[in-house]
Amino acid sequence: MWRGRHVVLGVTGGIAAYKSVHLARELTQRGATVDVVLSRGATRFIGAPTFEAVTRRPVRTSLWEPGTALEHITLGEDADLVIVAPATAQLLARAAAGMADDLLTTMLLAAEAPVLVAPAMNDAMFANGATAANLRRLVERGWHVIGPAVGELAEGPSNRPGRMEEPEAVIAHGERLLAGEGPLHRLQVIVTAGPTREMIDPIRVITNRSSGKMGYRIAEAAWRRGAEVILISGPSSEPVPYGVRLLRVASTAEMAEAVRAHLPTSDVLVMAAAPADFRPRHPSAQKVPRRDGGLTLALAGTEDILLATLPERHHRLTVVGFALETGDAVEKGRAKLIRKQLDLIVINDALEPGAGFDVDTNAVTILDSHGTLTPISMRPKREVADALLDAIERYRG
Ligand code: CTP
Repeated sequence: MWRGRHVVLGVTGGIAAYKSVHLARELTQRGATVDVVLSRGATRFIGAPTFEAVTRRPVRTSLWEPGTALEHITLGEDADLVIVAPATAQLLARAAAGMADDLLTTMLLAAEAPVLVAPAMNDAMFANGATAANLRRLVERGWHVIGPAVGELAEGPSNRPGRMEEPEAVIAHGERLLAGEGPLHRLQVIVTAGPTREMIDPIRVITNRSSGKMGYRIAEAAWRRGAEVILISGPSSEPVPYGVRLLRVASTAEMAEAVRAHLPTSDVLVMAAAPADFRPRHPSAQKVPRRDGGLTLALAGTEDILLATLPERHHRLTVVGFALETGDAVEKGRAKLIRKQLDLIVINDALEPGAGFDVDTNAVTILDSHGTLTPISMRPKREVADALLDAIERYRG
């Protein structure tokens, strides 16, 4: 995504400027050419040599450096994306007023690429109507805003927005802007992830080893492609991906309910979750005491969520299932695709090392209802997610 892209990163004077060093380094490592423009205020917090070291490019700080007469125009003109992070209240005010009194504001005024700003300031300054009005004007002119987040500020803890969004979130948003209007743009995608939990008593549960990693990576990748993503997740310790709407559920019945509720407005359903297949027939309201003779639990089957959606599927909907098998995986997966009337199925062989539960890599075979098989060799789950979304886009035509 970032390879060969030209990013101009404007940095203004705030303590969060240190986060932008990480941002510049990440973008560079991902293959982008990053030109950093520091405002005068930024240079009080962080020096140009730090950015030069991570981007391996000259850093600009002034309109008046010899040999750079036209850079205020050409920098922004050539860029694929302009990011301002952190953006102070002062920068927002100057940009909203259309001022061009230093290299950064002049470049912003001339920029034709999408502009993404990550404001960072004292929470009261952000809450001030003047800042809100400036941001509104910039958004009306097509700028994109990320954050600020709620959390610790330099002045101490805060429960109001002010803190700059994390570099990872800025990168995710940047990717969404670079992706432009691809096939998933504005589509609603439901992704289910993780295990579900069925209560034996208020303390004990039946669950499985699913970590949710694969589903979370798919949700993240779909959002970066421009989709509106609803992630319906069972218990998982994965961090919430930026931009996606997270709905937490516990049991298979709750997951089924959440899927059903959002199906009518969705375009794609990716069932990456591993819902528990059995639930205790008579869950106890009290903790079951330990007893020497052991315990026999009567189990009932849970609802099959994919099958339950059959009557409610509309013609625009693409339904993707997963099949975790042990041995003869492709044939078992094919049978599941037919039985559950899926458009695509992602087949996992659980016995293959580095694939399946709780690892960051996966090797899968994607099968669609036309019989097309796409083997995806072992790779990070982030890349498997992209390969799956490619397959979904191809399938939808
Ligand atoms: N699935 C579902 N509802 C369930 C269990 C599974 O919708 N109660 C979905 C999974 O999310 C997955 C697909 O069905 O996309 C296949 O899941 P899997 O556990 O492999 O299949 P099962 O239908 O449970 O069949 P079996 O356990 O017999 O292999």
